[in-house]
Amino acid sequence: MAPQILIATASRHGSTFDIADEIARVLSRRGFVVVDKAADETEGIERFDAVICGSAVYMGRWLPEATAFVTRNADELAQRPVWLFSSGPIGEPPQPEGDPQGIAQLLERVGARGHRNFPGRLDRDRLSLAERVIVGMLRAPKGDFRDFPQVTDWATEIADALAPLVANSVATDQADAVRKALLTAASH
Ligand SMILES: Cc1cc2nc3c(=O)[nH]c(=O)nc-3n(C[C@H](O)[C@H](O)[C@H](O)COP(=O)(O)O)c2cc1C
Repeated sequence: MAPQILIATASRHGSTFDIADEIARVLSRRGFVVVDKAADETEGIERFDAVICGSAVYMGRWLPEATAFVTRNADELAQRPVWLFSSGPIGEPPQPEGDPQGIAQLLERVGARGHRNFPGRLDRDRLSLAERVIVGMLRAPKGDFRDFPQVTDWATEIADALAPLVANSVATDQADAVRKALLTAASH
């Protein structure tokens, strides 16, 4: 059975889900079974060999459902490879720099292997009235600053790190097939 990876993501206006989908695409092509879900729709994580959790950043923080996913599953997450990502900075060059608040604590709590900040998208038409007021006051640049090649590269790094899991599962499947063939031969 191919190794299974959960991608649990929180997004308010959809652009972070697109980043998760690109990570899922890369990992699927590398032979993993990927479940790509909203962080607040996930159930138990026991069956997954590795987990990636990401969130859009608002007012300096992850969305609550992503933080809740990590804290709710912290003990299980600590027992498997985990990566975190954030999507937020906008403009050229993307601002603000630095990790969202609370990320260092989450990384430490689950022993995550890494965290990556990806540039985001600010699409005025999708914002609520309150959000429009805030981005207006901040004079935040509008546009889509996401860098999908950067996302592809990061997902490829994760696939490389987890490649031994795929090799092990292929070896186990082959051993099972040989065992079945021997049992069938012995019964005739
Ligand atoms: C009201 C508001 C506040 C934001 N605050 C931050 C912030 O503090 N840091 C950041 O990096 N990005 C911030 N952003 C940018 C969003 O994180 C970015 O647009 C992101 O791509 C949105 O993701 P989503 O479409 O998945 O919700 C803010 C955007 C809005 C509308």
